[in-house]
Amino acid sequence: MTASPIKIALAKGRILSEAVALLERLGIRFPEIETSRSLDIPSACGRFLALVIRSSDVPTYVSRGAADLGVVGKDVLWENEDEEENLLELLDLGFSRCRIVAATLGGVVPGSPVWRVATKYPLFTERVFQSHGRPVEVVKLYGSVELAPRAGIADAVVDMVETGSTLKANNLEVIEELGVSTARLIANRVAYKTKNEAMMDLLPRLEEALR
Ligand code: PRP
Repeated sequence: MTASPIKIALAKGRILSEAVALLERLGIRFPEIETSRSLDIPSACGRFLALVIRSSDVPTYVSRGAADLGVVGKDVLWENEDEEENLLELLDLGFSRCRIVAATLGGVVPGSPVWRVATKYPLFTERVFQSHGRPVEVVKLYGSVELAPRAGIADAVVDMVETGSTLKANNLEVIEELGVSTARLIANRVAYKTKNEAMMDLLPRLEEALR
């Protein structure tokens, strides 16, 4: 009997190319994964199936068992802590490093008692500011977050920074660093047991490739 393929959810966008390059170093190739319109792509060897999905959906796919493994940023895991019960974080892959920061126009600390904070990370933002004892009103956005202060709908943003050029272009300066994120390999807890042989074969090879 042929074993069913290991399903691996890969976050679209920044992480995808590096995840694909890493897997390629192990001889696991997904032909045309970055150009194909198909969203589930079998590996050339047939032992893996890549599911190419939005980064924020990766924890959901993996925790519900639709994917056995996933590659996603730690920032997304921080935002999806409600899924973590069914997830195991197996490896820090080191790439797609970015900082999660709070920033304001010109780096001026807002004077209002309740800061309005625009972000793609509403739960993370609530949690972090609550732990600082700072009341905030979270303004949930889906992108172009850096525009919000100039557009007058927020006093601050919480967002990820890679090169810093988006902050700079929007006159924003960091007032606090809230975390450093890198890509992580995650697994569904049940799949980690039921497909343990395949995972135990993959993990040391990944670790070796990362050295
Ligand atoms: C991310 C992030 C910042 C930008 C940071 O947005 O939300 O806007 O990248 O990168 P930088 O520090 O290198 O300028 P993304 O490109 O994912 O697009 P989005 O705004 O549509 O979410």
